[in-house]
Amino acid sequence: MQLRISPASAITGAITLPGDKSISHRYAMVSAIADGESRIHNYSTGADCHSTLGCIRALGIEVEIAGTEVLIQGRGLDGLRAPMGDLDAGNSGSTIRMLSGILAAQPFVSRIFGDESLSRRPMQRIMRPLAEMGAQIRAREDKFPPLEIHGARLRPIDYTLPVPSAQVKTCVLFAGLFAEGQTSVSEPVASRDHTEIALREFGADLTVGQANGQRRITLAGRPHLTSRELMVPSDLSSAAFFIVAALLVPGSQLTIRGVGLNPTRSALLDLLSGMGAKILIPTLESQNGELIGDIVVQHADLKGGTIAGALTAALIDEIPVLAVLGAATEEGLTVRDAGELRVKETDRIHTVVENLRRLGVEAEELSDGLVIPGRQTFRAATFDSFGDHRIAMAFAVAALRADAESVIEGAEGASVSFPEFWSTLARIAG
Ligand code: S3P
Repeated sequence: MQLRISPASAITGAITLPGDKSISHRYAMVSAIADGESRIHNYSTGADCHSTLGCIRALGIEVEIAGTEVLIQGRGLDGLRAPMGDLDAGNSGSTIRMLSGILAAQPFVSRIFGDESLSRRPMQRIMRPLAEMGAQIRAREDKFPPLEIHGARLRPIDYTLPVPSAQVKTCVLFAGLFAEGQTSVSEPVASRDHTEIALREFGADLTVGQANGQRRITLAGRPHLTSRELMVPSDLSSAAFFIVAALLVPGSQLTIRGVGLNPTRSALLDLLSGMGAKILIPTLESQNGELIGDIVVQHADLKGGTIAGALTAALIDEIPVLAVLGAATEEGLTVRDAGELRVKETDRIHTVVENLRRLGVEAEELSDGLVIPGRQTFRAATFDSFGDHRIAMAFAVAALRADAESVIEGAEGASVSFPEFWSTLARIAG
């Protein structure tokens, strides 16, 4: 699908966005293995989170979907049934990696596969700890999906994450739910903590501390998880596209309501404020252990800067749209320590640089990052999503500041996380 985007004269209005993708996946998976009926409000409309629902249904769990409200009849830790066919994770790395932690503990064999992009993404990062816990997993070329998971009675482990990844952390913690005894995960770089919050919310015995300068999570196995009524906040990673759009286009003022502001996700707001953005959070509350607030943002000329180290990990999903913004800042943007971007839905270092060049923007591709000089002007172009939702949305934002109408090819890719992106954009772009 091709979409045409005209330059905007201002981004204005007040919007709400679909539920957070990370939190939706976790609530669905934990609801499936909790006892009783869970009701999830504002569940993500993205295709990824619906892949998770499809998989848990195939595992014998009753799931009722009414718009963005999802009812899940959990059957307890031992209630999943062997699927009749292969489980389809679609484009979703979170589905395959996190659900594998649960599948590894089942008394049956399951096969889980994904689309072309997912079939090229590395799975050793979950295969190693799950094998250490006692599961047997086969993979294409020993590292790619499909995965054939031979579940087992798992042993608890004490695991240090070799890559900063909330998906891997979640996979090990989910597997640890089924093991007798205490499972611990240490993370040298703190990653999003929605799993820790959700597991506590459902009644798990989980503690978080510090050991040897690392964040260490300890979980008691075989908890009794009880069903809950839950509210998913709007997705800050989706809001990022509109925040950057408002910052880029002169005369903009935008309100985004009910956004998830978990501190492990909100580095974006600190970074932008540090560069000179005026971002206000007039309301802030806590729901199910997650912070939720409104965001008000207006156009500003920003200074630019560097994203490196732990900050890169905290901003990993926002880097494509920040790269676009970087070209319009005073001093430009440098991104380092971002090798993980090469194994996302696309090689995002490469797909960002390719589209920046089409935009007439100079950018240098590093093995683990990008260097984008500032004060550059944007030229209208035809951009390619390369089938990656965040690339489609990042360059739609770039097109708002271009000198004429641009085209986004593969625009349908956005629906992986945000099917309403295009209609929302049309509503606020004047
Ligand atoms: C996610 C973790 C991140 C992120 C992805 C969602 C999650 O991936 O890029 O969009 O929900 O845990 P990694 O765990 O691979 O860093």
